Amino acid sequence: MKISDLGRLEGPIVLFGGPYSNRHALSALLAIGQGQSLLCTGDICAYGADARPCVDLIRASGMPVVAGNVEHQLATRAQDCGCGFDEGTACDLASRGWFAHADVQMTDDARAWMAGLPDIAVFTHSGRRYAVIHGGVSANNLFLWSSTPEDVLRHELDQLHAHVGPVDGVICGHSGIAFQRRVDGVDWINAGVIGMPPNDGDARTEYAVLSDGQVSFHRLAYDHHGAARAMQEAGLIQGYEQALLTGHWPSQDILPPQLRRGSFASG
Ligand SMILES: [Fe+2]
Repeated sequence: MKISDLGRLEGPIVLFGGPYSNRHALSALLAIGQGQSLLCTGDICAYGADARPCVDLIRASGMPVVAGNVEHQLATRAQDCGCGFDEGTACDLASRGWFAHADVQMTDDARAWMAGLPDIAVFTHSGRRYAVIHGGVSANNLFLWSSTPEDVLRHELDQLHAHVGPVDGVICGHSGIAFQRRVDGVDWINAGVIGMPPNDGDARTEYAVLSDGQVSFHRLAYDHHGAARAMQEAGLIQGYEQALLTGHWPSQDILPPQLRRGSFASG
């Protein structure tokens, strides 16, 4: 487990995950965050057309990044994305296409940079201590949701505390839908992903801003038509290119039942 201490950060921090090879979204986010601190929860590459340009933009920015499962897989030249999809599901089948597309774009230098990324980053901000992870602590591809039982989050917090000591807040990504919860006095913040909308019928994606101990969530409007067109031109037509336009995921396999579209159960 690689841990990076970022020290004390000042001013508003733009928190985001999952550029997902979506250069159009990442460029829009970088424009919004110009002059501010930025922090990425990983998965720079995934569904979109522009894996390497996204890695280059993130590296050029110098922002802190924690390793996502995709960075781990690309760094080790693995054969799949390591997202944790069940075998044979729509997500699993589609990921074979986009992972191969990202893999061929990666340079040795980019893989070496990914191999050096921390699994956990810690920092203090406005007198509070935060840890940044990708999915979970027990596994970096753990899917945690607004509806995940509190005991599960408590177990992850116990493991986090064993690695880095007490924290006031946890910032994560991976699962693709932003949320904020409070567990045993700790803020659990999923900052969302900028590379794919959160399956609510709105093409804008999500990011968060940490300021004065408070987190606010925001939608990112960007050239989603351009991003979808780039995917089509690259032959990435398994349904995620349409999701950029419609705001609905091509498959809800990975979602817990209460978060699926058409469900009237509350999360
Ligand atoms: Fe991930």
